[in-house]
Amino acid sequence: MFELRCTVRNCQNLLNPTETGLTCNARHHFDRAKQGYWNLTQPQDRKSKKPGDCDEAVLARHRWLERGHAAGLVAELSTWVKMDGRDTTLRTLDLGCGEGYFGPALFSDAPDGYCGIDLSKTAIKLATRRWPAATWVLANADRELPAAEASVDRVVSLFGRRPITEIKRCLSPEGICVIAVPGEEDLIELREQVQQAGHRRRRGDVIVEEMEDAGLRCVEQRTWKHQVTLDHDAIQDALAMTYRAVRHSQQARLSSIDTMNVTLAADLLLFRHK
Ligand SMILES: C[S@@+](CC[C@H](N)C(=O)[O-])C[C@H]1O[C@@H](n2cnc3c(N)ncnc32)[C@H](O)[C@@H]1O
Ligand SMILES: [Zn+2]
Repeated sequence: MFELRCTVRNCQNLLNPTETGLTCNARHHFDRAKQGYWNLTQPQDRKSKKPGDCDEAVLARHRWLERGHAAGLVAELSTWVKMDGRDTTLRTLDLGCGEGYFGPALFSDAPDGYCGIDLSKTAIKLATRRWPAATWVLANADRELPAAEASVDRVVSLFGRRPITEIKRCLSPEGICVIAVPGEEDLIELREQVQQAGHRRRRGDVIVEEMEDAGLRCVEQRTWKHQVTLDHDAIQDALAMTYRAVRHSQQARLSSIDTMNVTLAADLLLFRHK
């Protein structure tokens, strides 16, 4: 399994498998949940008012991905994450992995080296069920990541968390960091209906600046774009996974629409150490 680090504040020891779970040299112990994931949350995470995405959003994304809308995105990303010529098992950390669609789609050849982290229990349970051979961790990716210095070959954040300093700490010297964020035109037709003016936002530029400031260099950028026709249920799921609180009046405007042609778009960024 993926080698994890203790998440007790200031501990930083590696975790060793024991009969009942994982233990560090300072005797901090973590049980394995019966579903098979590791709960590395700390008391402050459990009290958090924002324990990851709400169940409604997680389940809507699960149904959305099951419809195959991200297949083209997987094909686009797979060329980046290949890292040919390495004969050891590559270690991959997926920050905000959600219900676990992208892990097995991109890294099915290396379950031993893959670790997905999410703060939503519903998401991590779905992920564990989907790909039991991988390592799944319930943890807050905005705190110290449960991985040793320079130990990770691929850090991925697909519409997920971006703790920049921690990403840099964990990334091996030759490692890559792959980030995906919604593109300017993502669901623009839907957003136009809901907000009456669909704001076009370019997030990629801001992320590149932040990462460069932290010492990571953007070596390639791509935009993935795809047109799809959504049926009524898919429209509702797209809304549920995107907007926390779409007002009833706005939702009513869409409830009568049976099909809609929409653009799916993502900005993809590839980083390395400077
Ligand atoms: C938009 S979803 C993307 C999920 C997945 N990467 C995908 O593309 O399907 C964002 C995910 O980040 C998780 N998340 C939010 N805050 C988090 C945190 N502080 N630590 C870990 N995961 C978090 C949410 O629970 C959610 O599953
Ligand atoms: Zn410890």
